[in-house]
Amino acid sequence: MAVIHDDFGRRRFLSQAVMAFGALFGMGALALRFMQFLVPSQKPRRYEAVLIGAEARLPMGEPVPMNLGGHKIMVLKTEEGIAAFSRRCTDLGCLVSWSKERGQFVCPCHQGVFDKTGRNIAGPPPRPLDRYQVVRRNGQLYVNIHMKGEEKVRDAGSGRLIAKSGWTG
Ligand code: FES
Repeated sequence: MAVIHDDFGRRRFLSQAVMAFGALFGMGALALRFMQFLVPSQKPRRYEAVLIGAEARLPMGEPVPMNLGGHKIMVLKTEEGIAAFSRRCTDLGCLVSWSKERGQFVCPCHQGVFDKTGRNIAGPPPRPLDRYQVVRRNGQLYVNIHMKGEEKVRDAGSGRLIAKSGWTG
């Protein structure tokens, strides 16, 4: 009889130990997820300067569409300077194009309109077009963009990042 009693006690102890371990493990996992929620990991965004060409060759007043590592942009040179705009409409993301007659960016989806500074002036877009920083170095223009690794295009000679398509100087 004593043997049966000891076996029962051992089984009960083992079962409670397993349950306690499972509960502790579960609580630990929950606490870890909660900490990740409170303190999100902050991976710094990496920006790369992509060479788009010589400033002198950029036409005045007519935006040039480009694809920089999957980022579809338009670079516009005006009397005020050079700006790079995302072509993604801030309404639902359709690609805007330039209307030469109107001197505005227009969206074909719901007739959103942006002026030459990228400001939303008509239709549903809730905010201006996103902009990219343009950097001038030794007469060459670079656009700072957040690259996705597999889409980088490098110049064979210099190893510098270059525009994937569109205008280059
Ligand atoms: S997606 Fe451009 S106006 Fe709606």
